[in-house]
Amino acid sequence: MWEDLKRHADRIDGRRIEGLFENDKRATEFSLDAVGMLFDYSKTQLDGDIREALIDVAKQAGVEARRDEMFSGAKINETEGRAVLHTALRNLDGGPVMVDGDDVMPGVLDTLKRMEALATEIRASNVTDVVNIGIGGSDLGPAMAYLALSPYADGPRCHFVSNVDGADIADVLTGLDPETTLFIVASKTFTTIETMTNARTAKAWLSDKGVSSDGRFVALSSNKEKAGEWGIPEARVLGFEDWVGGRYSMWGPIGLSLMIAIGPDGFRAFLRGGQEMDRHFRAAELHENMPVLLALVGMWHNQVLGHATRAVLPYDNRLSRLAAYLQQLEMESNGKGVSMDGADLPFNSGPVVWGEPGTNGQHAFYQLIHQGTRVIPCEFMVAARGHEPELRHHHELLIANCLAQSEALMRGRTLDEAREKVAGTFEGDELERQAKHRVFPGNRPSTTLIYPLLDPETLGKIIALYEHRVFVEGVILGINSYDQWGVELGKELASSLGPVVSGEASADGKDGSTKQLVDYVLKNR
Ligand code: F6P
Repeated sequence: MWEDLKRHADRIDGRRIEGLFENDKRATEFSLDAVGMLFDYSKTQLDGDIREALIDVAKQAGVEARRDEMFSGAKINETEGRAVLHTALRNLDGGPVMVDGDDVMPGVLDTLKRMEALATEIRASNVTDVVNIGIGGSDLGPAMAYLALSPYADGPRCHFVSNVDGADIADVLTGLDPETTLFIVASKTFTTIETMTNARTAKAWLSDKGVSSDGRFVALSSNKEKAGEWGIPEARVLGFEDWVGGRYSMWGPIGLSLMIAIGPDGFRAFLRGGQEMDRHFRAAELHENMPVLLALVGMWHNQVLGHATRAVLPYDNRLSRLAAYLQQLEMESNGKGVSMDGADLPFNSGPVVWGEPGTNGQHAFYQLIHQGTRVIPCEFMVAARGHEPELRHHHELLIANCLAQSEALMRGRTLDEAREKVAGTFEGDELERQAKHRVFPGNRPSTTLIYPLLDPETLGKIIALYEHRVFVEGVILGINSYDQWGVELGKELASSLGPVVSGEASADGKDGSTKQLVDYVLKNR
C-alpha cells in the first residue's frame, strides 16, 4: 500500500497545486465542513486517487476497529497494559464505558463534581492567585488553554510553574501574596523530580513568609498515597486513573486550574466540544472524518513525500502555546522507532512539529517556509471572528494575512513576475540577479482550519481533533502512541549526575565531554 502511494508521489512530481483548481469544485471536494468547523485541505497535492489510496491505507491498518477498541476500553496501550480512555473524561452524557468489566463513568462524573465543588469554593474564596506546579502533560494543556480562553477567565489569576530551573518558580512567586495564593501540585505519578522540587520550594516559600501550608495545596494525581505522604489531605486530592495518559489529561483533574479560571460551566463547554469531536470521529465515514483526513494529509506529507517537519500556524494570538502543547501530544506520542511488536519501523516516525502564531511568524521564520530549500507543510488556523468587536479591523487584517500566506505558498512567484517587479529599478544582468532573489517556488502545501470563534467548546473540538489525528497516525504506523519510554534514559542519567554536579560524587566513569562540562561548572559556580 505504501508502494502505491510512492507511485502517486512520482506521478504528481512537478505538478502545480494551483492547476488543480481548474476543477472549480476542488475547494469543496477537498475540504470538510463538520462540527461547526471547516477543514480545507485543497491547497495540497491530494487528488481523488491519492485520497482513496490514503484511505485504503487507513482501512488496511484497521483504524476503524482500533478506534472502536479504544472507545470501548480495550487495553490498546499494550506496552503498559492500559486502556486509553481520556475520551471518558468528556463523555458527559454518552453512557457507560467499561474497563475490566466495570463502568468507569460513575467515578469520572463523581470526580468532575468534586472538581466543580472545589473550583467553586476557590473562586468564591479570597484566593487571588493559583499556581499550577506540573510539567509536560500536567502543565502544557491547562497552560495553553488558560491563555486560549482568557476572554472567559473571571476567576483568580493562574500561573504555571514547570521548569526545574529555579528562575521559573522565583519569577512566578515574585509579587504574589502568600495569604491569597493557592498551589496545585499536578503530577500523575507524584514522583516527577521537577514538580516535586518546585512543590517543596513553594512550601518553603509559605513557611518563610510565616504562612501555614494548611489548605494552601491541592494535589491532582493518580498516586493518592504519595500525595497523602506529601501532606495533602484526601479531601484536597483529585485522582484519575492510569487509563488517562499524561498528555491527554487536561480533560480531568489536571484541568482544575482552567476550571478555576473560567468556571465549571465554561469547563463543561470545553468538555462538550471534545465530546462532539469524539462523536464525529466515531460516526463519520473515513473520507468525511476530520481527524482521519488531518492524519492522512500529515502522513502524505511526512511518510510519503518525506517532509520532515510541519508547522502549526494559528492566526489566533491566544493559541500562542498551542505549538508547545502539540509538540508533546504529537512527538511524545508518535516519536517511536519500533512498531507494537518490537520490529524496527520501516518508515519515518511522526514529524517534528513546531510553530508560532501569525502574524508574528511572518516577520520571523516564514522567509524559510517560502524560499528555503526544504518544503514545510503548514497547518493554518483562524477564527472567523475575534473577541474584540471594537477591533474588527484588526481581525480582518489577521484573516487576510492568514489567507494570503496559504495563497502565496501555493502560487509562488515566477521569474517573469519577479522581473516585472524590478524592471523599473534595475536593468541588464543586475535585473536578472535581483529578479532571481524575488522568485518564490510556490507549490508549497498547506491546510486551513477555520472556526467561528475561539470559545471553550471550539477549543475542545480542536484539541480532540488533534488527539484523534495522533491516534490515527499511530495506528497506521503500527506503533503504541500511548507510552513514552524515550524520556526515561535522560531522567536516569540526570539522577546519577545530580551528586556529580553538586561535587559530592566523582565524574569518573563519565565520557570526556561530560567530565569537561562538569569540571567547568565546578570551577565557575
Ligand atoms: O517525562 C515525560 C512525562 O512522563 C510525560 O509523559 C508527563 O506528562 C510528564 O512527564 C509529567 O509526569 P507527571 O504528571 O507524572 O508528573
